[in-house]
Amino acid sequence: MTTDYNNIAQWYKKSKELPIRLHVEAYTYFNMLGDLAGKSLLDLACGEGFYTRQFKRKGALRVIGVDISEKMIELARQQETKEPLSIEYIVGDVLELGEIGSFNLVVASYLLNYSQTKEQLLKMCQNIFVNLKPGGRFVTINNNSEQPLESYLTCEKYGLIKSVDEPLQEGTPITYTISVDGKTFSFENYYLSASTYEWAFQSVGFKEFRWHKPMLSPDGVREFSQEFWQDCLNYPPLIGIECIK
Ligand SMILES: C[S@@+](CC[C@H](N)C(=O)[O-])C[C@H]1O[C@@H](n2cnc3c(N)ncnc32)[C@H](O)[C@@H]1O
Repeated sequence: MTTDYNNIAQWYKKSKELPIRLHVEAYTYFNMLGDLAGKSLLDLACGEGFYTRQFKRKGALRVIGVDISEKMIELARQQETKEPLSIEYIVGDVLELGEIGSFNLVVASYLLNYSQTKEQLLKMCQNIFVNLKPGGRFVTINNNSEQPLESYLTCEKYGLIKSVDEPLQEGTPITYTISVDGKTFSFENYYLSASTYEWAFQSVGFKEFRWHKPMLSPDGVREFSQEFWQDCLNYPPLIGIECIK
């Protein structure tokens, strides 16, 4: 099992084409982000830059992407060479990042769920907080800790299987198995309770935080029907979070 994206970088990139990513994940993320025009933005765990490029295209002024995986950053830089957008990519561990600037927005899709302990989560949140201007926002998409275990299998029809080998408790590994174009690959992240997340946001000094239930795009309903998405809306595998400094 891996949390190392060097081996699955190409396949992870392809998985962004899954309808759940487009119609639920991306739709929710951009709704939370709002207008990006003129904003400075730090994208943590940016992967190969799928969202990072979209932030720049949507008008963000300065965009930096950070990821721990050299392979992911290599793919991001290749794309930057093909289609220059003036995005800077850095190989780095968010646990060790420190202050690299002062941004209007720090964003991340699927970063915090790599924290295995509350101490690691706190460290990540500290490194997010120090990179924000006062009043700046941290906006993220994350594994939904509150999704009932019994509903994990309902995600299968969206091309995503979540599974665990033990009861959910702090630090339990969650395996994600994704099927795309007939190829199946897996990676792991970790369960921490919603109250541990809230504790970390408060401890580092965020003034406010909000959980955002996933939203479904009108195109998603037209293309697949409301019924197809109902399990995803009833038992969301992912959740949005917004914190204000
Ligand atoms: C599920 S992928 C998401 C990539 C991208 N945000 C997206 O949505 O396409 C998770 C990413 O987190 C990165 N990652 C995991 N732990 C990290 C850490 N401590 N610091 C920086 N990146 C990390 C992995 O290398 C991987 O690229």
